[in-house]
Amino acid sequence: MNILVTGGAGYIGSHAVRKLCETGHSVVVLDNLSYGHREAVPNNVPFYHVDLKDTDQIETILRKHHINAVMHFAALISVGESVQKPLLYYRNNTAGAMSLLEAMERVGVRRFVFSSTAATYGEPEETPILETTRQQPINPYGRSKWFVEQILQDIVTADPKFGFVVFRYFNVAGATEDGSIGENHQPETHLIPLVLFAAMGKRNNITVFGTDYPTPDGTCIRDYVHVNDLVTAHVLGIEALSDGDARFYNLGIGHGYSVREILDAAKKVTGKEIPTVFGSRREGDPARLFANSDKAQKELGWNPQHTNIEEIIASAWHWHTH
Ligand code: UFG
Repeated sequence: MNILVTGGAGYIGSHAVRKLCETGHSVVVLDNLSYGHREAVPNNVPFYHVDLKDTDQIETILRKHHINAVMHFAALISVGESVQKPLLYYRNNTAGAMSLLEAMERVGVRRFVFSSTAATYGEPEETPILETTRQQPINPYGRSKWFVEQILQDIVTADPKFGFVVFRYFNVAGATEDGSIGENHQPETHLIPLVLFAAMGKRNNITVFGTDYPTPDGTCIRDYVHVNDLVTAHVLGIEALSDGDARFYNLGIGHGYSVREILDAAKKVTGKEIPTVFGSRREGDPARLFANSDKAQKELGWNPQHTNIEEIIASAWHWHTH
């Protein structure tokens, strides 16, 4: 297939580009480089420095490369920032997706893979979280993605030849095996890279956000999925799509680790002391988020390879230190 990857210079998008190329697809990348890194995109992949709001230019790219399907990763991802700047999130994440979908409609591209998030569940009513668990996002980030999920359903209703798959990510971590690409957010806010920076001495310590949660050790529990497993699901998803599909899948490994367990595992993997400060809760953090991903495994044949947290942390450590 000829696939346009938006956000292909970002963390998850760049891993998807590699995986798609490896599986024989022809890839074109679009990224506004607000957070992405041009060097994360292989030189032989056509690259467009374009913003999602530029519907006309996207239309031109879709036509020029005879695109059959779009994988849409480009988005802003910081929950805290979304609370401060809701319009920025709705403009980028919701209106940006609409602009892209409009360009697709003009050209007749009817296959779409969308990066959604566990944040669409808000404070989940049940764990593990199923795809049918009620979605009630508690911040603009989660809502900006949830709106797109609903828009996609309306598009399929209007056009039965359209087909989409939505992946709701849990906590994505790790890096590609050869250490050539990995997580490089600026600023970084995610637990695993920050813990590794503390182990490397790149920062003085790591603050644990809250020790009084109703969990066995008092810290938050999350489901960490390796980025390569995550993008493998995307390839399976895009290849499975047919007319009228409206598919939704959780992507996690179905096992939660607490912040303290991450610290212990990182200590083991790195062999370093990790100076730790125990602080107060971060606003908007649910106590436990972990997925039931049986649906992706059954329907797509997804079989995550990196289910051991030490292995996931080791691959991130390799990327940060090689
Ligand atoms: N945490 C700390 N200290 C830190 C950073 C994080 O204790 O310095 C804790 C958080 O409180 C949370 C856990 O580590 O309990 C994981 O936090 P991350 O910031 O790494 O990830 P989040 O769970 O907040 O969010 C991630 C993605 C979101 C997505 C969510 C879904 O960034 O986009 O997973 O599970 F919505």
